[in-house]
Formats: sequence, C-alpha cells, structure tokens
Amino acid sequence: MDKFVIEGGRRLMGTVRLQSAKNSVLPLLAASILTTEQVVLHETPRITDVACMIQILRELGAEVRFEGDDVIIESADASNHRISSALTRELRSSVFMLGSLLARFHRAACAYPGGCDIGLRPIDLHLNALKRLGVEISERDGYIVCECERLKGAEIVLDFPSVGATENILLAAVMAEGRTVLEGAAKEPEIVDLANFLNCMGAKVEGAGSDTVEIEGVQRLHGASYTPVKDRIEAGSFLIGTAICGGEVEVIGVHADALGLLLHKLRENGCKIHTKNDKIKIASTGRLKCNRRIETMPFPGFPTDLQAQATALNCTAEGGALIVENLFETRFKYAPELRKMGADIEVRERTAFVRGVQRLHGASVTCGDLRGGAALVLAALGAEGTSEVLDLSHVDRGYADFEGKLKKLGANIRRVRA
Ligand code: UD1
Repeated sequence: MDKFVIEGGRRLMGTVRLQSAKNSVLPLLAASILTTEQVVLHETPRITDVACMIQILRELGAEVRFEGDDVIIESADASNHRISSALTRELRSSVFMLGSLLARFHRAACAYPGGCDIGLRPIDLHLNALKRLGVEISERDGYIVCECERLKGAEIVLDFPSVGATENILLAAVMAEGRTVLEGAAKEPEIVDLANFLNCMGAKVEGAGSDTVEIEGVQRLHGASYTPVKDRIEAGSFLIGTAICGGEVEVIGVHADALGLLLHKLRENGCKIHTKNDKIKIASTGRLKCNRRIETMPFPGFPTDLQAQATALNCTAEGGALIVENLFETRFKYAPELRKMGADIEVRERTAFVRGVQRLHGASVTCGDLRGGAALVLAALGAEGTSEVLDLSHVDRGYADFEGKLKKLGANIRRVRA
C-alpha cells in the first residue's frame, strides 16, 4: 500500500484548480445508462471511486472509455441489471444504480453497498422511496432484488434529507409514468448538478436545491455532453490546509455559497478570506484561534465531509473546540492517529473535545477513511518534523493527484509506492 512521506512546516502559496466533484460525477455516471445514446462527461477526475463506478457500468454491458479527461459512455448494448457483490461492496454509490437500472430495465439487483466505514449507513430511505414508485423489493442470496412492471410517479416524503436517497429517487422518477413530488429532499449542490444533467438529457426536473423537487416523467432520455460542478470538499480541504500551514492560496471553481459555513468558521479562526465569482482566496498566518463549536449538518450546514479536516485545524489553534458529528456515527476514527502526533483530543460518542496545542509533531499514522485520511495529511503538513501517512487507498478514492497539487503550493510531500 502506498504511503506519503511529509516534511511539515512549509507555508502553502499559489493557486489550485479544482477537480470535478466526486459526489457529482458518481451519480452522473449512474445516470448515463438512462439513455442508449452517447454520454460525455468532461473533466472527470482520476480517482478510484470513479474507476470503480466505471467498472460497474462495464459489468452492466456499457462501453466506457477515457479520452483525455473526458469519459465517454455508450450503453446501447447494456443488458445486465445485476451488480456483483464485489463491486457493490467497494463503493456505496453503486446503490444509485438501483434507480437508473429500474428506470431502464424495470429490474435491478445489488448486494448491500459498501464505501467508507464511517457508520451504519442503512439504505431504508432509498428502498422505501422506490417502493412508493411501484417497485417490489425482496432479498435473495445476499442481493437486494428490485422489480416492477413500470415505475409510477408518486408523492414521497423523506424523513431525513439523504443525499443518496434523493439522487436515487430522481434517477428512478425521470422516466416514471406521471408526476413525482419529493418533499424533504437533500439540497446539496451535487443534487442540483444531477438535476441539471438529467434536464440536459431531456428530463423534466424542477426545484432541485430546495426542499421540494418535482419530476414529470418522460418516455425517453437522450445523450448529453456535460461538465460537472467542481469539488467543494476538495476546495475546503485546501483552504483548511492553508489555514493550518499558513500562507496564501486561491482555489478556483467554486462559489462561496457552496462553502458558506466553512468560510465563516475560517474567519473565526483568524484567517482572511476574499471571494469573487468562483474564486476563494485565503490568507493565514498559521497562528489560529479555535472554533468554539462546529456541528455537522445537511447542506447548507457544515459538511460532514470537512469535519475531520476542521478538527485537525483546531488541534493546533489557541483555546478549545467542540466538534459534533450529526450525520455518521463513527466518523472520529482518525482521532487516535492525531493523538500520535501530539493532539489533545477526546471523543465521546458523537462529540470530539479538542484542546489546542502549540504544534503537532511528525509521526507514523494510518488512514482509516477518505476524509479522515485527508485530515491526517493536512495535520502532517503543519507538524514539526517528518510524518508517514500510510494506506493511501482511502485518500485516492476522492482526491486526484493530491500530492501533486500540494507540491505545487510548496508542500514537501512525496508518495512512496508499495
Ligand atoms: C453522501 C456523500 C457523502 C456525504 C453524505 C452526507 C456521495 C457519494 N456521498 O453520502 O460524501 O458524507 O452524503 O453529506 O454523494 N441514512 C439512513 N437511511 C438511508 C440513507 C441514509 O438512515 O436510507 C442516514 C445515513 O446513515 C446517515 C445520513 O442518513 O446518517 C446521511 O446519509 P446520506 O445523506 O444518505 O449520505 P450518502 O448519500 O451515503
């Protein structure tokens, strides 16, 4: 397994061009099989979650190829509607395939999904919503088997604004008979991106980005050529990294409203933030004040995908911080690793108590999940001395060329291949 060797203590200076959002690209790839015509996704990041999703599409019978940074999907001959358990377990987003497979074939089967080990992550909201659309669901040999004569539009209320369930409902409802009204929808920018993409394919989706999304089913969708939104979590990771290390960095590709609460928190830390159109610039002296409290919430609240990085920041800020994780039960697994670097952090259930120390020191630490892994990298960049960050398979799921981008900003980081 690859590792990073990081010599901490360098300031970060320069500009970061953001990749397309992982959490957009994955459902867009799932959506690509809704049509038999060609779909082109521009600027697709080379991350392993994307590679895994492409593998799933191929298994279904689609032809998928990279041309430069474009991914081209031709699924005219797709005929398989069953996703093997090996791939489903690799990637939680494989569950999105249920919606699009049902729309295309009226049949779908997949094993219970995998993904980051950050909590229970049930899929009851997905399955109940699909039932409302007329799908019969059973379990056979470890597979969830979904079947229907045809999908029928319905009124659906989500008890919780689940991102994945909202996306699955959109994918299934775009070709259902009649109108679907979804209340309590997730409002993340990636939901809006999926709706825009589906509309480019000829769907009729209105209201994405608000609590209520209305979908008028159409008979068929056509091909499309599309550039996904940029990755706000990648943006947030570089902004937090700069806050930790000190320096001046501009990220290009996301608007401030995609990261509203993070920018507010970084200002609380004492950083200077300047925003203009799709550019966000941060200046940090590296001497920070703790945030008294950060609590993760669905969009537009503080993103759970930046919780670990923000905790790493607070470890070397002045004062104390309380970090509350409301979305996933076990998303503090990185805390013992930060302690190896000298962090004063205690976790009780869904809350981490952090007392800032002057500086972290280099250590050998191991990634346990994607964002926790990113947090360890950022902590190591700010620490005194040399760190090893082991098991990069997690980081590689979501950050394309993380070390290359950090090196360009002046970081001393190198990948040692296993
Ligand atoms: C997506 C993102 C992930 C992000 C998360 C929350 C992708 C590929 N992943 O994950 O990066 O951290 O949103 O912003 O887009 N839940 C249920 N039942 C369900 C579905 C969800 O109880 O059927 C619960 C989950 O256990 C969790 C919460 O709802 O506690 C949020 O999950 P959800 O919004 O669905 O996250 P994902 O779509 O898995």
